Amino acid sequence: MENVKLGGRVALVTGGSRGIGLATAQALARAGARVALLARKPEPLAQAAAEIGDLALAIEADVSDPGAVRGAFERVARELGRLDILVNNAAIGRLHKIEHATDADILAGVGTNFLGAIYCVREAVPLMRAVGGGEIVNISSEAVLRPFPYLSLYAATKGALETFSSALHQELKPDGIRVTLLRAGATASAGFAREWDPATAEEAFRVWKERGLLDFSDAPMPTSVLANAVLHAVTQPPGAAIGLLDIRPV
Ligand SMILES: NC(=O)c1ccc[n+]([C@@H]2O[C@H](COP(=O)([O-])OP(=O)(O)OC[C@H]3O[C@@H](n4cnc5c(N)ncnc54)[C@H](OP(=O)(O)O)[C@@H]3O)[C@@H](O)[C@H]2O)c1
Repeated sequence: MENVKLGGRVALVTGGSRGIGLATAQALARAGARVALLARKPEPLAQAAAEIGDLALAIEADVSDPGAVRGAFERVARELGRLDILVNNAAIGRLHKIEHATDADILAGVGTNFLGAIYCVREAVPLMRAVGGGEIVNISSEAVLRPFPYLSLYAATKGALETFSSALHQELKPDGIRVTLLRAGATASAGFAREWDPATAEEAFRVWKERGLLDFSDAPMPTSVLANAVLHAVTQPPGAAIGLLDIRPV
């Protein structure tokens, strides 16, 4: 039955080329949706789209660039004809104490994690309104509840995303657009920490452990857990919306 749930619908998943974004795109496609995957690097993106097959459209774009985001949504409207679901998943989490953050680190963090979601929502709303409603899922992090040192910029961008989500829920209700915030704990995605400098990572993990910020007894969750949660949120019957999903490993 799963494959009829989203038949005829179109989704766009930012950061759909790997990790949680790819698992989410796969779950949406398995449920029958056509899915636009958006990311910067062409090769993993093409590979991800090929894995999904005919239901996938690969769009190379940087969410921190408003012009590129506009172009991406224009392509979705032109090539897929409509938009029903937006998953704001693309994010980066560079590891540094704030005094060591470069201008580029700060611009990329805020630009990708917060402004990127704003640019995407701005383009998505008119397309969703045109089809009578839609679903927006914003991916946040447990870092909002337990703001980790060395990831202060990341935590702040997710906090801003959460406030944006709450306001959007009110703003978009009259348009039939539901907004869900998915706050995730540690998830087994190889991508997120792969560019962390090993020495800084060692220092950060020591501090997190000393301060009880990370529970090392919990194994990270598989990406499919988050993907299924997104699917659950976007397949609710009319008349209800899932405002917050807070999912953590145990
Ligand atoms: N992994 C965790 O433990 C965890 C925990 C809590 C919350 N989260 C959240 O879950 C989401 C996904 O995390 P993940 O671990 O799956 O990350 P990931 O493996 O690093 O994947 C990130 C995805 O975003 C894309 N991306 C990054 N910057 C982009 C940009 N400027 N424009 C367009 N695409 C961009 C990447 O592709 P390109 O690099 O090719 O652009 C990639 O497809 C993020 O919002 C993260 O904050 C993760």
